[in-house]
Amino acid sequence: MCGIFAYLNYRVPRTRKEIFETLIKGLQRLEYRGYDSAGVAIDGNNNEDKERYIRLIKKRGKVKALDEELHKQDGMDLKADFETHFGIAHTRWATHGVPNAVNSHPQRSDKRNEFVVIHNGIITNYKDLRKFLETKGYEFESETDTETIPKLVKYMYDNRETEDISFSALVERVIQQLEGAFALVFKSIHYPGEAVATRRGSPLLIGVRSKYKLSTEQIPILYRTCNIENVKNICKTRMKRLDSSTCLHAIGDKAVEFFFASDASAIIEHTNRVIFLEDDDIAAVADGKLSIHRLKRSASDDPSRAIQTLQMELQQIMKGNFSAFMQKEIFEQPESVVNTMRGRMNFETKTVLLGGLKDHLKEIRRCRRLIIIGCGTSYHAAIATRQMLEELTELPVMVELASDFLDRNTPVFRDDVCFFISQSGETADTLMALRYCKDRGALTVGITNTVGSSISRETDCGVHINAGPEIGVASTKAYTSQFISLVMFGLMMSEDRISLQTRRQEIISGLQTLPEMIKEVLSLDEKIHDLALELYKQRSLLVMGRGYNYATCLEGALKIKEITYMHSEGILAGELKHGPLALVDKHMPVIMVIMKDPCFTKCQNALQQVIARQGRPIILSSREDTESSKFAYKTIELPHTVDCLQGVLSVIPLQLLSFHLAVLRGYDVDFPRNLAKSVTVE
Ligand code: F6R
Repeated sequence: MCGIFAYLNYRVPRTRKEIFETLIKGLQRLEYRGYDSAGVAIDGNNNEDKERYIRLIKKRGKVKALDEELHKQDGMDLKADFETHFGIAHTRWATHGVPNAVNSHPQRSDKRNEFVVIHNGIITNYKDLRKFLETKGYEFESETDTETIPKLVKYMYDNRETEDISFSALVERVIQQLEGAFALVFKSIHYPGEAVATRRGSPLLIGVRSKYKLSTEQIPILYRTCNIENVKNICKTRMKRLDSSTCLHAIGDKAVEFFFASDASAIIEHTNRVIFLEDDDIAAVADGKLSIHRLKRSASDDPSRAIQTLQMELQQIMKGNFSAFMQKEIFEQPESVVNTMRGRMNFETKTVLLGGLKDHLKEIRRCRRLIIIGCGTSYHAAIATRQMLEELTELPVMVELASDFLDRNTPVFRDDVCFFISQSGETADTLMALRYCKDRGALTVGITNTVGSSISRETDCGVHINAGPEIGVASTKAYTSQFISLVMFGLMMSEDRISLQTRRQEIISGLQTLPEMIKEVLSLDEKIHDLALELYKQRSLLVMGRGYNYATCLEGALKIKEITYMHSEGILAGELKHGPLALVDKHMPVIMVIMKDPCFTKCQNALQQVIARQGRPIILSSREDTESSKFAYKTIELPHTVDCLQGVLSVIPLQLLSFHLAVLRGYDVDFPRNLAKSVTVE
């Protein structure tokens, strides 16, 4: 949930100012991942005659505060030239230790900053490591788990058996001692102009840019054998000799730049040529050459890492004319749902083809049950589509919160099919649940929005929802695209069910007209803004509905609480009389989602119960409904579509409402307090 960005220019002269700008811009692109503090480490001088040193600059708050701090630093010559330089930068979202400059990254080995490290993830055995290092005389200054890492590298360096040990060999020794999850980038005064990066359980990729031809498109993996047992033992390493064919570099050792990041959005403005690292890869740049090695070879190992070309464009991740990414993403939904369906739905032949699932369809049709697992909004997408999936697949469908699923040690069998829904593809709870199901032999299916993410790589098959980058912490367009992906899956499963043909045709026609209907809903924005003006000073907001729209209520309430900090609850209208009705009086704002679907009559009962307690319901209703508005304090009328798709339309007014409420209450919509976009810790 923190953000990593690092930049190495090899024989590409850059001033210190340019290096700062690159690092700061990289961090700004990652800010949505976590943002309570930020920091950079750069070379203190460029003069070979002087003793080298690393300058660390860290600041609590947003990246903007760090940027201002960089320019205030004493003795910082912004015009100083560096032909080769390696700078590392980080935005932090606190897990161990309060947000402040000392706890922020880079963390260092000692007061001389011999080794500095940026880290995403959590080191679970950090207490043992810290104890060990303290017995060796290391003094800790922060409360972080990360600080053990640079100190451990220094320990390995100080106890090295040969003078010329490589930077990557040191890091290799360190990561063997680490438990937990990490993406790490290391810099050291002992290895000027060199970088080492590695990961386990947290994403990390490397971008490469050069105007000269690159030496290879596939970087072969080098394997080392190592006999380290514990921190005290210093290992002997053997590694294949590095030669030109085992490295990536610009031909003729010409100028080349490397960008390291936890997320492609930080790299894309520099280059679209990237290498995704796998767990336990150790990537090292020395003399402008990038090599990758691993400790052990396993049967499933890919023997090389390909340089991939990212299709994402920078403007896709910019805010455009909107005041916040979240607002932009809400308004992108007419296009994002089309992108989710593109090349998959054939509206002429009324057929669906999900390329990522087609080879597994027989197996899925034969399964015992479908288990759909996710967190937060992704979990709500599963709730929203469960009834449709039960109907179209004729299979039992379980919907699970990833954390709870694991807490219960839920029984999973070889003939289960487990779906993992995740916008980021990196959510730790969902990833753990995936590994749990995989270990038990179930077929695993990923539904993610992030190409190359851990979930998309570790599942047996899957669907990319193709919603485009989602930057706002509050998920909006990913929800509707996850929803539609699951509907398409249901349609594909029911293709040859004769009894379901009429229903399928109805849903397919509904999908075809959905983008236009989303536009109609978005045109209600002003009306919803007016409603927000009436509500923004309230402390609480209830959202009620049932059937296909229960998920709409859960999701709407989640949006409201996460960005407006108002208390909000999504209530199943059928449960109203079992408790929540006690909350209703003339002061409590109640939003009711009442659509023309099989639950309409039951929703009318709930409406009467609210009215009887002097409640003043704000009703999201179907345009075809002439009844509900008679009892409403306010009505927002929505276009009517097929019952199981209606949730795509009814959630949008609630997304808009939460956005306007947050703006009116003066909050930063894209960066809600205490939350991060990608939750890569359990
Ligand atoms: C809420 C929100 C979160 C995420 C949840 C799972 O707006 O975005 O509830 O849905 O953290 O994240 P992903 O989908 O990336 O696994």
